[in-house]
Amino acid sequence: MGIETIKKITKFCNTKRPLVCLTAYTRYMGEILDGNCDLILVGDSLSMVIYGNNFTKNVTLQTMINHGKAVGLAVKKSVLVVDMPKGTYETSPKIALKNAKKIMRETNCDAVKVEGGLKIKKIIKTLVKNKIPVMGHIGLMPQQANKLSDYNVKGRSEKEEKSIINDLTAVQESGAFSVVIESVPKALADKLNKISTIKTIGIGASKQCDGQVLVTEDLLGYFTKTAKFVKQYDDIRGRILKSVHKFKSDIIKRKFPTDRNTY
Ligand code: KIV
Repeated sequence: MGIETIKKITKFCNTKRPLVCLTAYTRYMGEILDGNCDLILVGDSLSMVIYGNNFTKNVTLQTMINHGKAVGLAVKKSVLVVDMPKGTYETSPKIALKNAKKIMRETNCDAVKVEGGLKIKKIIKTLVKNKIPVMGHIGLMPQQANKLSDYNVKGRSEKEEKSIINDLTAVQESGAFSVVIESVPKALADKLNKISTIKTIGIGASKQCDGQVLVTEDLLGYFTKTAKFVKQYDDIRGRILKSVHKFKSDIIKRKFPTDRNTY
C-alpha cells in the first residue's frame, strides 16, 4: 500500500461530515469527479450502465481492470475503489488475493470492493492482512441477482435482518475500512449505523449513514427508469436529445459546418 493511499484512506475515515461517493467508468468522468467527491467507485454496475445488461454477474476481471485503468489515469485526490467482479474472489482467499493484487497493480486504485459478509470473512481478512484496503458491500448484493425481482429491498424479515447485521459484524471484524449498505429498510439502516465501527456508505439505506453513493448516470438523468433511492439532479438524456436535434437541423439547413469548422 503506497503512502498516498494511506493518506487518502486515513482522511476518508477521519472525515466528520457526510461522505460523498460516486461511480465513474471512464477517464473523463474520473477527471470531472476527482476532488469533488471523497470516493470514486469503478462499480461493476458498468455492466448495466455501459454494456446494457440487466445484471452485474457477467462482468470479467479484465473489463473491470480496463475501466479501472482508464479512471485511474485521472483520479489523484479522491479514494479510488474498484469492484471485484463475481467469481473472482469468493472461492478461495488465494484466488481473491491474486486477483485483488492484479486490480491494484494494473489500475492504480486505492482499494477493492467485495460483496458479502459472513461468507467472505476469511477472504476480506486475507486481503487486509496483505495490505489491500477493502470496502465491503452488504444488504442488497447485485452480484447475487439472477432475475429482476432479486433487486428488491433486503432485510424486511427478522431472519434477513439478523443475517445483514451478522454480515456487517463480519465485514468490520475482518478489517474493511468502509462498507456499502444497499437497499435495506430505513429502520435496519439506522440499527446498522448504531452498531458500525467503520464508515457506512448508503444507497437506498438512510441518512444516518456516514456517506451516500449513487451511480453518476442515475443522478444525471441518463435513464428513463431508476430505483426509488435515486434522486435525479439533471436531465442529461433530454439535454443530449436537444443537442442532437439542433445538430440534425443545422446539417439539414446546411448551417454546419461553417467556415469556422472547415480547413
Ligand atoms: O457497482 C456499483 O456501482 C455499486 C454501487 C452502486 C454501490 O456497487
